[in-house]
Amino acid sequence: MALQLCLLGLLLVASPAAIAAADSSIYYQIAFMWPGAYCAQTNAGCCVPATDVVPAADFYVTGFTVYNATTNSAMTRCNNTPFNMNEIGDVKNLVQYWSNIKCPSNDGRSSWKKAWKTSGVCSRFDEKGYFAAALALRDKINPLSRLVRNGIKPDFGLYSVNKIKAAVRSGIGATPVIQCSKGPFDEFQLYQMFVCVAEDAKTFIECPEPPKYTCSDDILFHPFKKWMLKEASNSSSSSSAAAQAFEQLLDVAMEI
Ligand SMILES: *[C@@H]1O[C@H](CO)[C@@H](O)[C@H](O)[C@H]1NC(C)=O
Ligand SMILES: *[C@@H]1O[C@H](CO)[C@@H](O)[C@H](O)[C@H]1NC(C)=O
Repeated sequence: MALQLCLLGLLLVASPAAIAAADSSIYYQIAFMWPGAYCAQTNAGCCVPATDVVPAADFYVTGFTVYNATTNSAMTRCNNTPFNMNEIGDVKNLVQYWSNIKCPSNDGRSSWKKAWKTSGVCSRFDEKGYFAAALALRDKINPLSRLVRNGIKPDFGLYSVNKIKAAVRSGIGATPVIQCSKGPFDEFQLYQMFVCVAEDAKTFIECPEPPKYTCSDDILFHPFKKWMLKEASNSSSSSSAAAQAFEQLLDVAMEI
């Protein structure tokens, strides 16, 4: 009896602590955008980034958001830690994989600054750590090559959303959330992909409250070709070289 009371006491003591722990935990969601869809659906088109580094032939990271694990709501602007370009870490990899093809051509800094000031400041990382964590996740997820290896290619084909999800899930052990947009002929096309990770920013988890996006059962995987990228109005030879190199990289990726 005494032992039971004692155990009961422990449980009573333990539960508020458990609640507090749950309250303070977070998880992350990394967002990837397929540039072929973005270029096809945007009236303004898409532009070769204004940088000498060739963007990767892959999905681009477009966000690394922090979520409150109790409320499942995105945490934003938690403090005013400024963005400092000198603290950002591996800029080359960021240009390749967190590339901004919005028009007019830009060097990506504004998207990194926005990500840091909106979400990064709520993370468990300093600025360099935040971007490094996002890039490390990108490396592990490696969305395009994972899809291509499963026969899902940006070749104007229609692919089952469930197969797309399964291809990623079989590699990382968690299901991606797929967002579609309206592509040519009013078909739904693969636009964005979201993956959630636990507080350690390493362990993949099912997104606890996945946003619901409308897709058809089979969706278009739009190609991404050099001609889709507009040259900067201030066209430098480096940007057209970048577009050229990009297309070659994409061809290589498709042949995996
Ligand atoms: C999550 O939200 C709850 C309820 O608003 C709050 O008590 C808790 O402190 C938040 N957690 C974090 C990590 O901010
Ligand atoms: C055009 O390119 C040059 C050299 O790359 C650069 O210094 C200049 O700021 C650019 N002008 C515009 C309007 O983007």
